[in-house]
Amino acid sequence: MEEDQETRLSINRINKRFVILNTVDSTNEYAKRLVASGKSEDFIVFAFEQTSGSGRHGRTWISPRGGAWFSLVLKISDIKSASALLFKSALAVSDALRMVAIKTQIRWPNDIMIGEKKVSGCLLETVKGADGKIRAVVGIGLNLNISEETLKEADLYKTATSLMIETGEDYDVLDLMYAVASIAIDYFEKSQLLGADEIDRINSVLYKKGNPVTLSVNNDEVSGLCAGISEGGLIDIIDSDNRRSSYSHSEVTEFR
Ligand code: BTN
Repeated sequence: MEEDQETRLSINRINKRFVILNTVDSTNEYAKRLVASGKSEDFIVFAFEQTSGSGRHGRTWISPRGGAWFSLVLKISDIKSASALLFKSALAVSDALRMVAIKTQIRWPNDIMIGEKKVSGCLLETVKGADGKIRAVVGIGLNLNISEETLKEADLYKTATSLMIETGEDYDVLDLMYAVASIAIDYFEKSQLLGADEIDRINSVLYKKGNPVTLSVNNDEVSGLCAGISEGGLIDIIDSDNRRSSYSHSEVTEFR
């Protein structure tokens, strides 16, 4: 563990251990290292700052102080559960933000949007422990007290926002992380599969539902009307001949 990290372990209401770090390369990488080195219980890693945060499809995730950067590490029974956890995490972010009076939409599969700008994203990875059991590592990034200047410097201001930019308020990063983590774990402990009620709730806040969209699928483009998500979190698209096709988040690199 690097010297400048402050580590605190605690048992909390949701009965998982938290590792809280000042700074880390990436909470997902740190979590995978802990699992590989033999940590067998479920846990959550939070950092105030990441120096090499990563996003989906190998993108960089800018993670200065002021955001909530954390990873949930949970044992899963199969790969379908990992996907379910990804959607449940997006729903948990959206539900936690509603509790602080912020209305969001979910841009499939797991971007959290305020209007046309992204405020949060989730990155799903899996890792095998020393015991041979697979864990899902869901990294969640939530822009809380991030200034316009910081987003402008990173050339993200046109596409990203933060809660502080939207409301002018200052947020407690640990409180918000705890709210999201406890809701996501609660949804996951109820069932490791995505339930019909959760699909309905995602559809009720789904960005561009009923509107024309274009998907990048295996180096191809698919356009049509976004009909919503269906079982397993697949996105359903209706083309100009009224044919319906479904796509999984693992085969789509862009949704716009
Ligand atoms: C995305 O929308 O592309 C996913 C972004 C995920 C960012 C989070 S921040 C905490 C965790 N650690 C990382 O390096 N990435 C995820």
